Amino acid sequence: MPTIKEILQTMDYGPAPESTKEAQAWLDQHGRRFGLFIDNAWTEASETFGSFNPADGSELAQVTQATADDVERAVAAARRAQPGWVAMGGHGRAKVLYSLARLLQKHSRLFAVLETLDNGKTIRETRDADLPLAARHFYHHAGWAQLQSEEFADYRAVGVVGQIVPWNFPLLMLAWKIAPALAAGNTIVFKPAEFTSLTALLFAEICVQAGVPAGVVNIVTGDGRVGEAIVNHPGIDKLAFTGSTEVGRIIRKATAGTGKKLSLELGGKSPFIVFEDADLDAAVEGLVDSIWFNQGQVCCAGSRLLVQESVYPRFIEKVKARMHNLRVGSPLDKSNDIGALVDPVQQQRITGLVDAARAEGCEVWQPACEMPVGGSWFLPTLITGASTSAAVAQTEIFGPVLVAMSFRTPGEAVQLANNTVYGLAACVWTESISLALDVAPAIKAGVVWINTANQFDAACGFGGYKESGFGREGGKEGMYEYLTPLAEDRRPAVPLIAEKGKVKASEEGNPFAVDRTAKLYIGGKQARPDGAYSRAIMGANGSFLADIGEGNRKDIRNAVEAAHKAAGWSKATAHNRAQVLYYIAENLAVRADEFAARIAQQTGSKNAAAEVQASIERLFYWAAWADKYDGLAHQPPMHGITVALNEPVGVIGIICPNENPLLGFISLVAPALALGNRVIAVPSEAHPLSALDLYQVLDTSDLPGGALNIVTGSADELARTLASHFDVDAVWRHDGSAEGCAEVERLSSESLKRTWTGGAKGRDWFDAKQACGKTVLQHASQVKNVWIPYGV
Ligand code: NAI
Repeated sequence: MPTIKEILQTMDYGPAPESTKEAQAWLDQHGRRFGLFIDNAWTEASETFGSFNPADGSELAQVTQATADDVERAVAAARRAQPGWVAMGGHGRAKVLYSLARLLQKHSRLFAVLETLDNGKTIRETRDADLPLAARHFYHHAGWAQLQSEEFADYRAVGVVGQIVPWNFPLLMLAWKIAPALAAGNTIVFKPAEFTSLTALLFAEICVQAGVPAGVVNIVTGDGRVGEAIVNHPGIDKLAFTGSTEVGRIIRKATAGTGKKLSLELGGKSPFIVFEDADLDAAVEGLVDSIWFNQGQVCCAGSRLLVQESVYPRFIEKVKARMHNLRVGSPLDKSNDIGALVDPVQQQRITGLVDAARAEGCEVWQPACEMPVGGSWFLPTLITGASTSAAVAQTEIFGPVLVAMSFRTPGEAVQLANNTVYGLAACVWTESISLALDVAPAIKAGVVWINTANQFDAACGFGGYKESGFGREGGKEGMYEYLTPLAEDRRPAVPLIAEKGKVKASEEGNPFAVDRTAKLYIGGKQARPDGAYSRAIMGANGSFLADIGEGNRKDIRNAVEAAHKAAGWSKATAHNRAQVLYYIAENLAVRADEFAARIAQQTGSKNAAAEVQASIERLFYWAAWADKYDGLAHQPPMHGITVALNEPVGVIGIICPNENPLLGFISLVAPALALGNRVIAVPSEAHPLSALDLYQVLDTSDLPGGALNIVTGSADELARTLASHFDVDAVWRHDGSAEGCAEVERLSSESLKRTWTGGAKGRDWFDAKQACGKTVLQHASQVKNVWIPYGV
């Protein structure tokens, strides 16, 4: 008699095709030819291109290639509509967002089928993942619109936003972009990817039904040239982009110095880590969701499988057995697991990368199943024997290709996991909660899934570390991407020059008080500048005050090295960091008069004593925050929790303001330190002595060497080096140099580091609204969402 297993093996699913009747009828209704959606009206379709069904290559419709004039009209419509959209108030906007959510649900099957036709992903995924998640996003953000006046009272909408999305989750990415932007009161120029415009065009129709006012949502279609026109349009206040790291870099460069707010969600090469004590069968199922979801065309796909050596052979056998059961075929068939790739271009790209791996000696394994005829397909693929530096182990393949490696210890797993320029997501599989929660914070990624994979929810932020981009989508942190603090509007047009008082003659004349050898401060020690040059610092009355070290590229390199060695500061308890900041304040207070005199000597300020007192208070302020900027425990619709951790950004280079040489320095350095970052600070170029006098204060305040490094010299040159340095995670520049800030943003595009620049405007460093608060905390941290299901 056959066993149950044998019976099950002989059973197979018959075809279960989804009907395309309604979707075809909708396309026919539009004559299979679409214009652009601007100001709630359709333009005539002029120059068009084809949108194809990747499963069979047939043409679905012709879509318009928008021109620069079209983008101009869309931006103008959005600009006109914005005040009215804001004036509708939070409740008014909430009702519209709620209607959009309802309409998405009512027409969910039409959207799902159209998405499957246009993208090639399986109907199971569009029906069960893309559509419910898109609708949930609008519901959730209807809530943020409703709560805006309470939760974001100190903010306003950014204005007109340009949004550019890729083809892998056309409707879902639209929802991730449009819902928060609308909730916050922005108006939109949205561009879908050229391969997959159709669900965005269907969405345009439901916008009208939902009562979205004319001009609030504008949809322009076309290729990268349309994206470029949006990026470069001066009427755009914020850009939100999801796509390749390469285009992300182009956008970062193009927007440098324009003041446009920017969020980038880019590529990934995410690790899927399996420890020996994991439930291996559950991990195999997780792996299927992780790498074969959407044919692996997922930015957070778990494309690097890392398995503990002791279970590696067993796990690989299980994976291969499961791969045999993956059904590749028509995406409209409800029982298929793997559909078509978006376009032949993608098929060629993946083939090229897999062929190269084979040529390099890797073992390439695919299950023995038939490839459908016609269209773009790629069989699920497992690659073993690749070195950690091989192209397949480092490049985002964006296809159903898994690269497997083994590791011995948890430490090695973390090291391998972080051995990538990306940092989008990671999966950790282990039955030990202690191990999982030890490893999760050590992985440099914006999302960590423990014993689960590819979970998303509107309440939980999503976004990357390192070259996976910056900014978050979803959650409260995602809302801030579409808001501007009101205090920013109150900033003075130029840096404020202190009102002059009389500098005391006795201090001017005392050579011992001023003639200290001011070196650099690196790794907790005073260091001579590498170039052995000094620069003279003059006082407010034109007299010579001191020679200071002229830091150069090499000094910055040494400082970065010291900062990396001081990694313990990021792991110190928040209580400990707070204690150190309080201690700095205490030691500064003891020498308040001396510091006030020094400020007066340099700037001539009559408010020097007040500046010192404000600096002490600011140290207290950031010490207070150190152990209070807690994360959140989200409750997404699953059995479990998602813990949002506020982690330090890493190593931050800070170019301090020229005015208020002590308060400006402390206002930027203290929050960075409070949240566990290590800092390389370039003090005021004109008045650096206040920062240099701090060396002794720091030495007596238990600040570990390397946590704060101070390099004096030319702000431009030092900023340039910091912005180009690949081991610096963020650069802040606040010295009022518009060109300098633009340069920092431009140079930071190479490593996609985060920037916070003040431009030409000033900032009243005495005003807590302008110099303190959530905005600063957000710049000094990045959110990691750790998903922890339980009871499964
Ligand atoms: P892409 O980054 O070129 O395209 C994404 C979007 O950006 C599209 O709407 C495109 O029209 C637009 N775009 C292209 N050039 C632009 C420019 N200069 N300025 C403004 N917008 C521009 O991605 P593509 O070519 O579709 O895919 C290539 C590779 O990128 C994939 O194989 C994959 O490795 C990666 N990718 C990663 C995604 C992610 O979510 N991380 C999504 C899509 C692609």
